[in-house]
Formats: sequence, C-alpha cells, structure tokens
Amino acid sequence: MVRVIMTESATKFVTPTTLSTLSKQPIYTSFYKNNSEEWHNHVALGLWADVLIIAPASAHTLSKMAQGLCDNFLLSVFLSARCPVYFAPAMDLDMLAHPATQKNINLLVSRGNHLIASDVGELASGLNGKGRMAAPETIINILEAHFKIGTFHNKRVLITSGPTYEALDSVRFIGNHSSGKMGYALATLFAEQGAQVVFISGPVKDYPKHTDIKVIKVTSADEMLDACIQQYVKIDFAVFTAAVADYKPNEAFEKKHKKDGNPLKITLIENPDIAHELGKLKTEKQIHVGFALETHNEEASAKAKIKRKNLDLIVLNSLQDIGVGFGQDTNKVTIYDRFEKRFPFDLKDKKEVAQDILKIMESYA
Ligand code: C5P
Repeated sequence: MVRVIMTESATKFVTPTTLSTLSKQPIYTSFYKNNSEEWHNHVALGLWADVLIIAPASAHTLSKMAQGLCDNFLLSVFLSARCPVYFAPAMDLDMLAHPATQKNINLLVSRGNHLIASDVGELASGLNGKGRMAAPETIINILEAHFKIGTFHNKRVLITSGPTYEALDSVRFIGNHSSGKMGYALATLFAEQGAQVVFISGPVKDYPKHTDIKVIKVTSADEMLDACIQQYVKIDFAVFTAAVADYKPNEAFEKKHKKDGNPLKITLIENPDIAHELGKLKTEKQIHVGFALETHNEEASAKAKIKRKNLDLIVLNSLQDIGVGFGQDTNKVTIYDRFEKRFPFDLKDKKEVAQDILKIMESYA
C-alpha cells in the first residue's frame, strides 16, 4: 500500500485529489484532518512504512531534513520513521551545486538516508544541467532492488575508479582525462542492489554518495595498489575501472622544479598493475572484471588481458566508436568472458552500461 504525504508547495504542482485517486488512499497534507481538531498520527505513519521516499525533494525540504526542523507533516513523519529513507533531490542546477545543498545532502547520507541522485537534463528554469528528479523508472528500479534479495545483496565489491596522478614535482603530475563516471555508475548500482562497496578512486570531480559505499581517495597508482591490498579482505567481486597511469617518473622533485634553460629529461618507470597484482590473490570464488580502452587490435588485446590479469570478464570500449571515451556520459562496450564468449552492446548511457555489466556478472557469480 502507498500512502502519500504532500507539502503545501507540492499541492501547487499536483492536486491531492489526483494522488488520492491513484493511491486509493486519503492524502496527508497537514497535521489536522480536514482542518478539524483531529490530528493525523505522524508517529504511527512513520512506524507503519517499510520505506519512505521523499521525491521530489526540494532544496528547502532537504535543508529542513538535515537540520531536524519539523514545521510540516512530512518532516514530522521523516523524524519519526524507523524505516529506510530515500530522497530524490530536484531543483535548479546552481541550487543543487551550492555548497549548502551539498552539505545537507552529505549530512543526510552520512546519517544513513539513501540519495537517489538527480539526473542531467532540461530544468524548470529552462537551463540545462544536473538537478532533474531521477526518472520515475529509476526510482522504481531502486525500490525493486531494495525489496529483492539479489545476487549482490550483502556481497563485498571492490571498485577502482578514475585516473591516477603521478607526481613530477610538488605541483605537477602526469595523469589522464578519466572522469570516473563509469566507476561512479557501477558503485551506485551495486549499492542499490544491496552490496557493500569499497570505492577506491583517483582524483575526480564527483564521488558516489551512498551509505553502503566506502570511498577511499588516492592519488597515485602505488597508493591505489596499497589501498586495494588493504581492502581486499572477504571481497566477492572486484571491478577495475580505473585508468591507472602505466608509467611514473623515476624520481619526483621534492619542490617545484624551476626552469633553467636546459631540456628536462624525465625517466619514466612502469607502475604496478593493480588488476594483475590482485589477480594473483584471487581464488575460484571471487569474480574479477577488468576494463580495456583500446585504439587498435581491440579484441586480441582484450582477450590477452583476461588471461594475463586472471580476470573473469573484460569490458572493452574502442576509441574508434563515437560517444566512447574519457568524460563521456555514454559508452559502447563489448564484454568478453574468460572462455572468449562475446557480448556486444549498443551505445548507451553509462548507468545502463552498468546495468548490462551487472547482469553479465550475475550469470558468473
Ligand atoms: O591499461 P590496461 O588496458 O592494461 O587496463 C586493463 C585493466 O587493468 C583495467 O581494468 C585497468 O583498471 C587495470 N589496470 C590496473 N593497473 C594498471 C593498469 C591497468 O589495475 N597499472
């Protein structure tokens, strides 16, 4: 059964009659029944629910939730609820990006509430950007996963993500343009399916936010390897999305190196291969998934990497495809298993690519 609570502002967008008709239940818009002295029992409602979804969650409501304010019926139920709470922010892009809103979101997530991240697209203001409420289908998928005990429920998943920066001196580095968006999408989806995720990421703009995602921020490949080895305890699945720098300077200058009119020679040495090192620790019960971004000889290179790095699956994206590559929101992948079975996919949003990858992983678990 679905029971709907509307704030006063919500009633300006949709009428309570519409939602009452759809939910076949009376709608809660205030503490009192039909403006009478009789009050709605918010505590009972908070205890009754198996899950509370606040969607769309405005900047104002988020702020009140974070502060524990209680000036409407929704907030009194939120404070009384003992069930898991999901919230789907919806607002203009600058309001969402504002440090105050971000602080409120982080605070709510740190207290165990589940963020349903906003989508990018056209906003009510006419601007384009991140701030749209997640699509209703996304919210339904999350709730279905919440109530379903799937393959990844309570499993431990390690994900490497983003680039690594290899120091040249105290201010310069060698790096790459990886945005970490694929790792972000995978970590979020695993967590939504009940997994405990350890997310080890090089420097990126956005890190996933979820109570079941432990984010470990690293800079260099050596740091990433150390963190992976430390966290590789009781891991069921490992997914290596990170674009680890293959080489690092032999020596980094301690201070900022000043130019002196002479050519500067830098010797680069190979970085450790994290997937390869963890592949040596892997047992039969663990599933490892690697990524490969190739420009030529794609299939042969990907297949060779499966063997060399002791992977179960490899996700190949070819730079020859349009819409594929660093920083893009879309990806076109072909997955190979260790028996060289091939699963080709169309160009898709990275969230959908993550769904395809999890589906294939399920059949190997
Ligand atoms: O760079 P390469 O194509 O070999 O990457 C293949 C896979 O190995 C990727 O999953 C990547 O995250 C991983 N890798 C790694 N450590 C490296 C290089 C790559 O874990 N030093």
